[in-house]
Amino acid sequence: MSDNGFKGKVAIVTGAATGIGFEIARQLATRGASVMLNDLDSEVLQKALARIREEGGDCESAAGDAGDPGYIERLVAKTVECFGRVDLAVANAGLTRFSSILDIEPSDLQSMLDLNLKGSVFLAKYAARQMIGQGDGGRILFMSSVTGHQAHPDAVCYGMTKAALRMLAKGLVVELAGHGITTNAISPGATTTERTLAGDAQFEAKWIETTPTGRVTAPIDIASTALWLLSPEAAQITGQTIVVDGGWTATSEVPNFSH
Ligand SMILES: NC(=O)c1ccc[n+]([C@@H]2O[C@H](COP(=O)([O-])OP(=O)(O)OC[C@H]3O[C@@H](n4cnc5c(N)ncnc54)[C@H](O)[C@@H]3O)[C@@H](O)[C@H]2O)c1
Repeated sequence: MSDNGFKGKVAIVTGAATGIGFEIARQLATRGASVMLNDLDSEVLQKALARIREEGGDCESAAGDAGDPGYIERLVAKTVECFGRVDLAVANAGLTRFSSILDIEPSDLQSMLDLNLKGSVFLAKYAARQMIGQGDGGRILFMSSVTGHQAHPDAVCYGMTKAALRMLAKGLVVELAGHGITTNAISPGATTTERTLAGDAQFEAKWIETTPTGRVTAPIDIASTALWLLSPEAAQITGQTIVVDGGWTATSEVPNFSH
């Protein structure tokens, strides 16, 4: 894809201050898209905005809760106000609450349902309305997870929300494909982000043991796949989920967390 492949396109990326979302926003901006970065953490968001601008990217930021439908409606409206349109919507923000089913609390489940599902559904709703009004198609991308494909210890409820996103991407084809709007999902495997590295100093070492390619997934691996799905080249791909995990789901061996 050329450096200017996204020139004139306007993107929204939720959870874009760090990790996978930041890398998707950065790569889109590098290739000419105007990007609205959302995150709950306004301080880190400002740093992300400054970094992308330093690299020459055209971007704005909107701090807020991507799991709140009212806020999502305002986020889409603000994007149109700033950049005039919306072509690409990436529902990246997600929440992980690891827990056994024996210990899960209603608040843990509710927070995952709110952000992972409600946030994604309502970004799709308001972005699709805008795209349909514009009349020249668009791209909606959801961030699923390998835990939505394979069972994983203490991730049954998180995995359930991520599996639902695959069906959301597929089901939306019925309503949106005729408008030229593609709806797809990416399922990252264990990915080195600020959160995963801070949560476990051995994160990389452990996952290398059970990842067939011999390395863990990096945000750029997910961003490269995202950019392709968001590009004009992927116009005929919709309703699909692409797993980016170095082959982990082929074997699904879980690392030994006891060492
Ligand atoms: N990192 C992984 O190993 C991995 C694996 C599979 C799937 N995923 C999924 O990929 C996505 C990104 O993961 P990550 O590890 O890069 O991100 P993360 O969990 O570290 O969060 C990224 C950003 O989202 C923001 N955020 C949190 N709650 C928010 C909210 N309510 N509204 C707006 N922003 C909010 C955070 O402040 C953070 O800057 C998530 O949906 C996650 O479930 C990640």
